[in-house]
Amino acid sequence: MKTIIEPFRIKSVEPLRHTTREQREEFLAEAGYNLFLIDARNILIDLLTDSGTSAMSTEQWAAMMRGDESYAGSESFYRMKTVVQELTGFRHVIPTHQGRAAERILFRVMCRAGQVVPNNTHFDTTRANIEFTGARAVDLPCREAEDTQAQLPFKGNMDVEALERLIEAEGAERVPLVMLTLTNNSGGGQPVSMENIEAVKGVAARYGIPLYLDACRFAENAYFIQLRESGYAGWAPKQIAQKMFSLADGCTFSAKKDAFANIGGFLCTNDDRLAEQEKELLILTEGFPTYGGLAGRDLEAIAVGLREVLDPDYLRYRIVSTEYLGRHISERGVPIVQPPGGHAIYIDAARMLPQIPRHQFPGQALAVELYRHAGIRSVEIGSVMFGDKARHELLRLAIPRRVYTQSHIDYVVEAILEVNERRQAIRGLEIVWEPPFLRHFSARFRPL
Ligand code: F0G
Repeated sequence: MKTIIEPFRIKSVEPLRHTTREQREEFLAEAGYNLFLIDARNILIDLLTDSGTSAMSTEQWAAMMRGDESYAGSESFYRMKTVVQELTGFRHVIPTHQGRAAERILFRVMCRAGQVVPNNTHFDTTRANIEFTGARAVDLPCREAEDTQAQLPFKGNMDVEALERLIEAEGAERVPLVMLTLTNNSGGGQPVSMENIEAVKGVAARYGIPLYLDACRFAENAYFIQLRESGYAGWAPKQIAQKMFSLADGCTFSAKKDAFANIGGFLCTNDDRLAEQEKELLILTEGFPTYGGLAGRDLEAIAVGLREVLDPDYLRYRIVSTEYLGRHISERGVPIVQPPGGHAIYIDAARMLPQIPRHQFPGQALAVELYRHAGIRSVEIGSVMFGDKARHELLRLAIPRRVYTQSHIDYVVEAILEVNERRQAIRGLEIVWEPPFLRHFSARFRPL
């Protein structure tokens, strides 16, 4: 059969609420044209993020009833730890309430002011947590990633030569760790090849620097390796993921992505000394090391989700359905980051709206227009999110896992094509208020 179907059926549904264009105009003005400040009940299709928005399976819900809510030594923790260790091979598994809590603890323990942490591309929370320690977060995406239109298999890769130059220039003692984000979220959801992970590990190891994976979307990355990298076609996604982790010294993980959980995360390391310090910090703000800010039932959902996400049928549907959205809008002239990523489609807003200069935020203007036109929420990944560190002006359409059907996506396609028809009329925005950190969450804008 040629048709690839959703590999699940629906047991429990949530109603969607329509609004009128006039209402949306009002909501936008009240929210200062920042879609983070619009109530979810006034969103029709929510593509703000794929994080914590997954539909859980019957097996996950069933497992949650087994949640052991003991303060110390919870059975649920050991079940989760077993799954994580089987997958990653790491000695220490430290649960956290989400990915950024793992990041905060890791960087607090490993980074000092004046140091430098390279990554293929830091996500916003990773960058902010590093900068909060006084260290510098440096992005080293491969050169091919510069051209959003280039059709290449692994545009999430790190520039290995640039990594070596950076370590030489800074001195290895000023680089406490190297990170790789799989898949490269801020860089278009593009995967990183096994060859690149091996090369980065090679350089880091040569200088005695540990390699950590920001492994939020490890399963999607593993599936892209199976599809696109020579030598891996016969491997199961799980085997590929195991090899990816085996090349690293630790990882941070947000279970809100590739574990289908609505909350949760963990930090892993093979370093006993670091693990001790990390657990001390964990107790300070997250909780005892066998729950780390999570309920026992959350740990159960993660344990089951980590197994489900590696199902080849699921991964095929996931990657194909994201590509479906990308293909249907790019075929009709909407410039997207090519090729389509795993968890999201990224529209190159600077290219689509050349009349809007960077400082008037083409990605944000497009996000606002798509909401105004069709009630769809997306997120800017560009100068609003990253200021002058932004490499592109993108609009991300992130697809929650197992949530929307093909007809929802067809509606999104139709809406984007209609917005694209009258793109010349879209105007930019100016910021009228912003906070000192992570401004995209609360900045307020005015249309120009
Ligand atoms: N690393 C990456 C690559 C991420 O995409 C995220 C979250 C995090 C770390 C932090 O994890 O949210 O559990 O604290 N990304 C979400 C997104 C928020 O929309 O892309 P968290």
